[in-house]
Amino acid sequence: MFTWRIAALSDKENNLKFLVSEEELRRQEEYSDLVRTVLSSRYPLGKPKAFVHTYGCQGNVADGERIEGMLVNMGYELTQEADGADLVLYNTCAIREHAEDRVFGNLGALKPIKKKNPDMIIALCGCMMQQKHIADRIYKSFPYVDLLFGTHVIHKLPELMYRTICTGRRVFDITDSDGSIAEGLPIHRDGSFKAWLPIMYGCNNFCSYCIVPYVRGRERSRDFDTVVSEAKSLVEQGYKEITLLGQNVNSYNRELGSEYGFPALLRAINAIDGDFIIRFMTSNPKDCTKELLDTMADCEKVAKHLHLPVQSGNSRVLKAMNRKYDREKYLSLIEYAYSVMPELSITSDIIVGFPGETYEEFKDTLSLVEKVRYTSLYTFIFSARKGTRAYDMEDPVPREEKGRWFRELTDLQEKIAGERTAQMKGRVYRVLCEEKAKKEGMISGRTQGNVIVEFPADESVIGTFQNVKVTDCRTWIVNGELVK
Ligand code: 5AD
Ligand code: SF4
Repeated sequence: MFTWRIAALSDKENNLKFLVSEEELRRQEEYSDLVRTVLSSRYPLGKPKAFVHTYGCQGNVADGERIEGMLVNMGYELTQEADGADLVLYNTCAIREHAEDRVFGNLGALKPIKKKNPDMIIALCGCMMQQKHIADRIYKSFPYVDLLFGTHVIHKLPELMYRTICTGRRVFDITDSDGSIAEGLPIHRDGSFKAWLPIMYGCNNFCSYCIVPYVRGRERSRDFDTVVSEAKSLVEQGYKEITLLGQNVNSYNRELGSEYGFPALLRAINAIDGDFIIRFMTSNPKDCTKELLDTMADCEKVAKHLHLPVQSGNSRVLKAMNRKYDREKYLSLIEYAYSVMPELSITSDIIVGFPGETYEEFKDTLSLVEKVRYTSLYTFIFSARKGTRAYDMEDPVPREEKGRWFRELTDLQEKIAGERTAQMKGRVYRVLCEEKAKKEGMISGRTQGNVIVEFPADESVIGTFQNVKVTDCRTWIVNGELVK
């Protein structure tokens, strides 16, 4: 029987104050055993099936892996289909309205499935559910939802499941808190060679458009030694790519000073023996330092890829967004980054049509994109999120107009991406082979800079590093051939 590992206690008080107590974890472990017993008597012919679907960012994906780990511990078998499942759980995202609409759509589609199988449990969790107005709406309008819980109580899933299964009543728990850290939860990792490793949770920045600080609580960092040992264990298990996750990794252990800060963490993980690469996201430009860029340059295992969301190229808009840096500071960081890593690949997030943004101001975003020459961009039209400061701001530009700006930006980026990939032709890249490509006989992988490369090879290369010579370039994807 699996026993939950209780986090080694260190003397670093700052991280400890957020830790879920050993006693509480033991209590959850007992609930997990109880659920397992109840389920095995209810399903004598085979394990019940759980379908877990995660929306949103990698932070949510990492939560999903813990949720799946706990469900497996409780006796569920994971399935890829909602139809026929005994438990359907949506781990939701709140970042834009579109993400929420998808959840409501998929939830509606579950109604007939539940009618067919009234014993099926429907559960919802994640950022969207941490908002009271959403939880209230679900409670009133979706009576077939059995269980709903927020982002601060994931570790209590065994207890919540026990109450749902044994009382037959609806269980809703969106307890708010500054946040906690539960170490040692079982994890069911989705991949066998790429792993997500959360190093901190929450966000203190309150960018005026963003819901995350309201649904994820305050910044809190995981213990340095715990993170390094988890990385070591991943490398020992054969993982080839470890992505360190946090809303703002640059402020990791901010309170503890440089000895335990993010650059120190990168160096410590870089020092682990083995053939693997380290990625991280997301960096907030406001806390991105020369020390971090120097560390990236020094550490051979750190991918030369920096995701540095700029959001806008106009300093007035950045101020209204409460980003705490301006265009000049961002550009000077980029200049320094290229000077220490000439091959660096930079990607970014951009919001088009922030309330009050004018076309002239938007043109500053275009000119910044021209200057930085990103490898790729994640672009979004502003979406008003209830509870944020931007929600109440005047927003006179019509949606269609924002759509035109948006296309102008994506057309520009497409041109730049095409020019960048064209320069890759003839060069050899070390690629982590990830999966079969759509085209028969082809494998798809990624360079350190996060460019997708497709090349003829058999499936045995998946999960290994290979040298690939680029032979042909499309806009976002390049073609290549294996070289020894
Ligand atoms: N509207 C549009 N995009 C948003 N993002 C965050 N909040 C919003 C919003 N309200 C984008 C930002 C962020 C990315 C994860 O999502 O660009 O970096
Ligand atoms: Fe979605 Fe943001 Fe929450 Fe991630 S942190 S799950 S993107 S709302």
